[in-house]
This record gives sequence, structure tokens and C-alpha cells, in this order.
Amino acid sequence: MTYDAVVIGAGAAGLMCALTAGYAGRRVLVIDHANKAGKKILMSGGGRCNFTNLGTTPANFFSDNPHFCISALKRYRPEHFVELVERHGLEHVEKAPGQLFCAGSAKDLLAILLTECDWAGVEMSLKTSVTHLERRGEGMRLETSRGRIEAGAVVVATGGLSIPTLGASGFGYDIARQFGLAVTETRPALVPFTLTSQWKARAADLSGLSHEVAVRCRDGAYREPLLFTHRGLSGPAMLQISSHWRPGDSLAVDLLPGEDAYGALVAARRDTPKRRLATWLGERLPRRLAQALVEWHGGDGPLAERSNAELEAWAGHLNDWRLKPAGTEGWRTAEVTMGGVDTRHLSSKTFEVSGLPQLRFIGEVLDVTGELGGYNFQWAWASGVACGQSL
Ligand code: FDA
Repeated sequence: MTYDAVVIGAGAAGLMCALTAGYAGRRVLVIDHANKAGKKILMSGGGRCNFTNLGTTPANFFSDNPHFCISALKRYRPEHFVELVERHGLEHVEKAPGQLFCAGSAKDLLAILLTECDWAGVEMSLKTSVTHLERRGEGMRLETSRGRIEAGAVVVATGGLSIPTLGASGFGYDIARQFGLAVTETRPALVPFTLTSQWKARAADLSGLSHEVAVRCRDGAYREPLLFTHRGLSGPAMLQISSHWRPGDSLAVDLLPGEDAYGALVAARRDTPKRRLATWLGERLPRRLAQALVEWHGGDGPLAERSNAELEAWAGHLNDWRLKPAGTEGWRTAEVTMGGVDTRHLSSKTFEVSGLPQLRFIGEVLDVTGELGGYNFQWAWASGVACGQSL
């Protein structure tokens, strides 16, 4: 069998690349070892897929080569993808500023991509694994579980390492290394934190409680909700900061973002000396959290009985809670992989490997990782289109 292009990976980036190349008249085959295309699309955004972010800029991405993503993101913008899905009648909602989700189900979005692939004449081979890949003159030869395939070009769109049960594998990195490309350090990102025993028990007691905080770690700072869980800390604030966190780091959590707790406590002691600390906390924090803080740190009672030093300590607990996670939940639940195939080997226009234009890498397998909020899918669409147009 001979194709102009074989795309390995029927995820967001692979499908977008395939349909773009198909419409351009290329004979395209998509291979995936899973039994279904687009499994991550289906489970993303709580089953409703946060498929883009209208405010996407290169600053929303992490990479050792930060300029690499600029070209593709500029050429294929969120409005382009919105136009595509609206043509198919997909209804969507903006849940948070710029974050577009399917109004119904992520299944509707995947159906659009599969329909477009079909219309573009793309062939699909699921439950197919690639056992060997080699260069053959100007093209590539693949040995697969369904036989030998010759291709003008091979596009590796196998994604990252997160959620192995959804088909994730290190295949893309192995191929990169086989052809002499470097792979930057990979680690789970957009992932909840686990805690050591004392804090784990405390978080479990508050399980299900969500509260907006400001969190900092290294050069990362976010103001988003924190969610206490049975296993530790999650919610957008923790997922976002996990992309900056390294083992051994502490997080600085401000439970009262925008309020100087010390100044407010001193003023409250002066103006309402009989008010209890727990009452004051309860006016600013969810009741269960306020009660828990008093249990953890002690010192409830009328504000008049609290010294300046005690109020200062409380201000620290509130504005600068230092917390050292035990680790993260790892690949099992991470939304994305930080790091990947080093983009310095690739053209940012076509995604081809320098000196080997018949081999290309797109999507999450690359060392380009977005923040939480629809950016990772926008990268998948944009890199898929840029590559597909040049096949
Ligand atoms: P993707 O992982 O989608 O696809 C890779 C494909 O390659 C898979 O079909 C896999 O089976 C196949 N494959 C892997 N190894 C192979 C091999 N050896 N042989 C053949 N096939 C192979 N992002 C976002 O922007 N908004 C959101 O709402 C979410 N939500 C979300 C929730 C959860 C739970 C997760 C895990 C992730 C998200 N994400 C997200 C991230 C987003 O899903 C992710 O960045 C994109 O799916 C990446 O698209 P790719 O096409 O690059 O890889």
C-alpha cells in the first residue's frame, strides 16, 4: 500500500492534519493502535471538551524553544476552528472568559472531525501498531501489524504520556530518538498534588470544597479555584501551578487574594474587639475551611485577646500558606506532558525534521505544552493544519 502521507495517531492533531492534507488532494492514511479515534477528545473538559481559548497567544505555552509555536498559532487561530465547528452546527458555551466548550458532548466535536476526514477521503486503520519505521530514499517505509506501508511522509501525532489507559505511549519519543532527535525531559503537568499524611488527612476532611486562591511557585502565579480532594489538592489553581512545580518545591497559597490579612485583622481588632477570630474568618472563607483553619492553627477567641505577633502569624497562614506537596498524581491523571520532542530540530512552518522532510511531528508529542483552558487543543489544531497544508 502506498500513501502520500501516513499519520500515526488519530487524536486531535493527527485528525486535523489528515483532513487538511486530504482536502489538499493527498492520499492519507491515519493509523492508531487504539480501538477508537480521539479518546482524549471524548474525555476532555469533563466530557464537553474545552476545544479552544479565544485568547490564545504564544505566552500560554511552555517550551525550551518558546518561539517555535508562534508561526502555527498565528496562521490557524481559534476563530478558524470555531468557524469549522459552527459550519457543522456545533453549539458551544464560553464557560470562563475565552474558554469554549461543547454545549452538548465532546462526541459532537469528534464526530465533526471524523466527518471532515471522511469527506476529505482520509483512510483510517485502528487497532494497528507500527513495529518498524525506516527511511526509503525520498519516502518512508512502515512495518505494521497489518502489513507493510510505503509513504511519501510520516507524521508522528502520538501525543504525550498522560493517561496510558487512553492509548498514550512513548512511541513518538522513541521514533524521534531513532532518527537522532533530542527529547527534552518529560514530566506530568496539569496534574493534582498529593500530600503527606497530616495534610492529606486535613485535605480529605475538606474534600469537595472549592475556594478561589492565588498560588505561586517558581515563576508561576495563578488566581483560580483550589479544590480539596480525598487524595490532596486539585482544581484549576493546582493544575496550573503543577506545570511550574518541581519535586521538593513548596507552594505559596494566598487564601485571601487581594486582601492584606494583617491590616484587616488589626483593623477588626480595633473596631470590633469582641468579634471572634473564627467569625472573622467565616466572613471571608467557606465555613468549613474557616473552622478547619482554627482547628489546625488554634487561637480562636475574641480578637482583643490576640497580640500583634499572633495576628501576624495568622496573616501568614492566610496570605502566605506554605505547603510542600508530597508529589503529583502522575501520568494516571495528568492532562498533559511537559517536554517532548525538541523543536529545535523542526521547521516551525511545516513541522518537518531538518534534513528529513519526510518525517514530521505535531501536537503534544512536541516540547510545546499549553496552560489549562483550551490551549492544548488549539495547539493540536494549529500544528495539525500547518503540517497538513505542507504535505
Ligand atoms: P492525543 O493524545 O490526543 O492523540 C494521540 C493518539 O495517538 C491517540 O489516539 C493514541 O491512541 C495514539 N497513539 C499513541 N501511541 C501510539 C502508537 N504507539 N501507535 C499508534 N497510535 C498511538 N486540552 C484542552 O485544550 N482542553 C481540555 O478540555 C482538555 N482536557 C483534557 C482532559 C484530560 C483528562 C486529558 C488527559 C487531557 C486534556 N486536554 C485538554 C489535553 C488534550 O487532550 C491534549 O493536549 C490533546 O489531546 C493532544 O492531542 P494530540 O493529538 O497531540 O494527542
